[in-house]
Amino acid sequence: MKKKTDDSVLNKVLTLAKQRGFIFPSSEIYGGLANTWDYGPLGVELKNNIKQQWWVRFVHNRTDMVGLDAAILMNPKTWEASGHISHFNDPLVECKKTHKRYRADHLLEDNGVDTTGMNLEDMQKALDKKKIKSPDGGELTKLKTFNMMLESHLGPIKSDDNKVYFRPETAQAIFVDFNSILNSARKRVPFGVAQIGKAFRNEITPGNFIFRTREFEQMEIEYFVHPKQWKKAFDMWLKEIKDWLDYCGVSKKNLVFREIKDGERAHYSKRTVDIEYKYPFGTKELYGLAYRTDYDLAQHAKFSGQELVYTDPETQEKYVPHVIEPSLGVDRTLLVMLLEAYDQEEVPTADGKKEMRTVLRLPHVFAPYKIAVLPLSKKLELRKVAEPIWRDLTKQWFTNYDETQAIGRRYRRQDEIGTPYCVTIDFETLEDKKVTVRDRDTMKQDRVAIAELIDYFKDKFND
Ligand code: GAP
Repeated sequence: MKKKTDDSVLNKVLTLAKQRGFIFPSSEIYGGLANTWDYGPLGVELKNNIKQQWWVRFVHNRTDMVGLDAAILMNPKTWEASGHISHFNDPLVECKKTHKRYRADHLLEDNGVDTTGMNLEDMQKALDKKKIKSPDGGELTKLKTFNMMLESHLGPIKSDDNKVYFRPETAQAIFVDFNSILNSARKRVPFGVAQIGKAFRNEITPGNFIFRTREFEQMEIEYFVHPKQWKKAFDMWLKEIKDWLDYCGVSKKNLVFREIKDGERAHYSKRTVDIEYKYPFGTKELYGLAYRTDYDLAQHAKFSGQELVYTDPETQEKYVPHVIEPSLGVDRTLLVMLLEAYDQEEVPTADGKKEMRTVLRLPHVFAPYKIAVLPLSKKLELRKVAEPIWRDLTKQWFTNYDETQAIGRRYRRQDEIGTPYCVTIDFETLEDKKVTVRDRDTMKQDRVAIAELIDYFKDKFND
């Protein structure tokens, strides 16, 4: 299989994503809205499969987990307590010529400066020392901090009294609801709470397709442990993330596990490992795993005046649980899965020539369509056989139906969207009551009796 490390792979994936209805620019008929994207008919399937597989794996298939689906808008005190109002900042500089704004750490990195562990003062010194200009050639303003939370106001009057923030992470509701979850779910520590949902950040420099956007989705777990057990839980979740990425078809050689140094971690973390991916545009964060200590529960207890503690039913020990947090971006998962699955290979044609085939080698469970039914022609006698097969398969697996254009082109279309199997109904089918099943990856074909088709696919999909 050809490996893809060059930037053009991103463009190819972007083009395929748009043409085939995975992802397209949002509100395009009005000229779009910079860096906002819509997930089309295939994109929503892939995205839902990612979320569903994550939920089944980390909530349903475990005995120590429960779920939550909290409101996006929360009491603003939440963000005072969590530290987001004071700490959730990015270093901002502005071009004096164009008034475009940039992240200072990104400009430094683009100019070969390693910003690891740098505070704002260090960054300003490095900008001055290297006499760094904006990418538009203008002088830069002095560096200042910029809070990344998006704000709005509830009700008809805009005032500080009704200001609200769009949550910048899904995590906080899990801490704020800790007592309600504990009292209703009656879980014993160690246990975790999972949540999938939208988060919003007023990123200074969004970009690289769906890598960094201002509206995105997270799949987060807050895993509550006894303070002495945090290391064991951290290791357990690191392994879980590795296994999940393997399940998603992400090859190990494209991953980097980076221990984040003191001074570089988020304000709440005592240990963070960033799970980075070698994207065509550089090695950057995919997921994060953080040891948040008792920071959040203690802060919310302080700001709300409510006790947020756990009492061990056996020892009667009363303590504030510590937290391990695996935080996964849905959109970055999807981007990485597309990059990993995208492949092009030369294949022979029927007339002895060669052509390029683009194939999305998505793991079967994530593929938008599992099967495509392709009658060889639009003739009524074939349609009469094909449509009931389509209806039967659709009851179990999301199945596509396509009867337009030559069969070779239809195979290519299904390869491009990652459909694992194509079922072809031809004129022989009318005689022998069998169909041809073609495998996306091997292109091998099996002749299968219509009566045995469901069992054949149950076997293929391990259902
Ligand atoms: N609760 C911890 C937290 O939010 P984070 O590292 O800021 O930590 C977690 O974000 C994950 O959310 C990232 O690893 C990434 O997958 C995703 N993410 C963060 N900002 C994003 C953005 N602007 N666009 C897309 N995904 C983003």
